[in-house]
Amino acid sequence: MKSNLANIKKAKNLLNIGECIAIPTETVYGLAGNAYSKSACRKIFKLKKRPKNNPLIVHYFNKKDLMKDCKFNKSFLKLYKKFCPGPITFILDLKKSSNICDVVTNKKKTLAVRFPKHPITRNLLKNLNFPLAAPSANLSSKVSAVCSAHVKEDFGKKIKFVLDGGKSKIGLESTIIDIRKKPKILRLGGLNISIIQKVLSKKIIIDNKPSKISSPGQFKLHYSPGIPLRRNAKIAKDNEAFILIKKKKITKSNYYFLSKKGNLQEAAKNLYNILRIIKKNKYKSIAVCRIPNKGLGKTINDRLIRASKF
Ligand code: TXA
Ligand code: MG
Repeated sequence: MKSNLANIKKAKNLLNIGECIAIPTETVYGLAGNAYSKSACRKIFKLKKRPKNNPLIVHYFNKKDLMKDCKFNKSFLKLYKKFCPGPITFILDLKKSSNICDVVTNKKKTLAVRFPKHPITRNLLKNLNFPLAAPSANLSSKVSAVCSAHVKEDFGKKIKFVLDGGKSKIGLESTIIDIRKKPKILRLGGLNISIIQKVLSKKIIIDNKPSKISSPGQFKLHYSPGIPLRRNAKIAKDNEAFILIKKKKITKSNYYFLSKKGNLQEAAKNLYNILRIIKKNKYKSIAVCRIPNKGLGKTINDRLIRASKF
C-alpha cells in the first residue's frame, strides 16, 4: 500500500536522526530506536520509565545482519530456520566487535535478539543501516500495546510517530530462550515450548522464575492492568469485571469474552485489549475464569499470574 510506504519512509527518517518511534510487530508493538546509538536508546528508557538494569531486545532483519554483533551455535540455526521471522527471542553472546551500545545491554555480555514478522516492520528493518532496540511500547510494568491506539494511550504526544500496522496478530510477547548452553526458557510467550522442544530434540529447562533477575520481564508487577485481578473465578461480583474464555448465551454488562468458542489463540490476541478496556471502564477489580493450561493458555496464565500480584 502506498500510504504504508510513505509511513515507512517517515519512520526511517526519524530513526536515522536518533528519534524513537513505535513499530508494529506480530507479538506486541515496540518502542524502537537505533540500537547503535546511546542517545536514542536512552530516550527509550526515559519514555518508558524503564529501570536502567532491564536490558532491551534488539530487532534484526535477518541472520546476516545479526552476524555483525552476535555469536551463534547450531541450536540457534535450527530454531532460526524453523521459526524466524517469528515470535521467538534468543539470548546470545555479543561479539567483541559488536556495535550495540552498552545502554541496550546494561553492560552485559549477552544480547536478546529477535526477527519480527510483521511485513511493515520487516520492510523498515531492511531499509535501515542499524538494528532496532525495541522493548514493548507500554509504560514500564503495565500491559503491552497491541494496536497503535494503545501506544498513544500510554505516551500521547511524547512519542514522535507510531507506525501503524493494525492489530498485533499474536497479542502476547515473544518466547525468550537462552540458547547459549542448555536451552533455557526465560519467558513464556507467543511460540509454544513443545514445538521448540521438537525442533531441538533436547530437553528444555523452563526458568521463568529465577531468583536473580536474568530477565526482568519476570518482575512480579509486570503486565499489570493497574487494578487487583483474581484467577480461576467461577462467579464475579456485580461491580467486578468478569473475563471469560468463551461467549455465554446470557451475558451481563460486566462480562468480557476472550474468544467466541474458547480458542486460545483468539483469547491471546484479545487479552491485553480487554484488560485495557476494563481499566478504562473504571472497574476496581477483575475476576478471570480458569484458562486451560495448554498451548498459548500457558502464556496467558503466566501473564495473569503476574497481573494478579498487584
Ligand atoms: O515480543 C516481544 O518480545 C516484544 C516485541 C516488541 O518485540 N518486546 C518485548 O520487550 O516484550 P520487553 O523489553 O518488554 O521484554 C523483553 C524482556 C525483558 O524482560 C528483558 O529483561 C529481557 O527481555 N531481556 C533483554 N535482554 C536480556 C538479556 N541479555 N538476558 C536476559 N533477558 C533479557
Ligand atoms: Mg514489556
